[in-house]
Amino acid sequence: MSKLKNIAVIGLGYVGLPLAVHLARHYPVTGLDIDPRRVQELKAGQDRTNEIDAGVLKASTLDITDQISAVENADVFIVTVPTPVDGNNEPDLTAVRGASKLVGGVLKKGDIVVYESTVYPGVTEDVAGPELEAASGLVCGS
Ligand SMILES: NC(=O)c1ccc[n+]([C@@H]2O[C@H](COP(=O)([O-])OP(=O)(O)OC[C@H]3O[C@@H](n4cnc5c(N)ncnc54)[C@H](O)[C@@H]3O)[C@@H](O)[C@H]2O)c1
Repeated sequence: MSKLKNIAVIGLGYVGLPLAVHLARHYPVTGLDIDPRRVQELKAGQDRTNEIDAGVLKASTLDITDQISAVENADVFIVTVPTPVDGNNEPDLTAVRGASKLVGGVLKKGDIVVYESTVYPGVTEDVAGPELEAASGLVCGS
């Protein structure tokens, strides 16, 4: 990790926000969320999941954004978007696909993408990886 400079956390919810705030104590971290209201609240120091106190949030060096261009320089992407199940108990991977497309659009050779979202075995390789490859033109794991 000592050689890795910039981290992007994608999805600033219950899982992503505390992770991003903690990592920001040691690394330059940008947190991206597609919900502009969530971004606005967090920038004002308000976390409605009550995981991070306003004082801690305001004092953090975490850069909060809803703009993908703000994470262009990241070397490590940590995806923490929701994976709900639908009415038939089927996992809804819309957010994982969407986040992968976003990340793939700015991915550079050698970058690392970590999926923290809860998924069934195989999703990283069979769903997320191909989305990253299609959007970036790069090859996973090569
Ligand atoms: N690995 C673990 O230890 C662990 C623990 C608990 C939960 N989880 C998993 O982490 C994931 C996130 O859970 P949560 O409770 O933080 O969810 P959450 O709903 O609290 O937060 C998710 C955030 O992601 C944002 N988002 C949705 N789609 C996005 C996209 N395409 N790009 C950027 N941001 C996007 C939402 O606006 C929201 O703010 C779930 O899959 C959950 O099951 C993992």
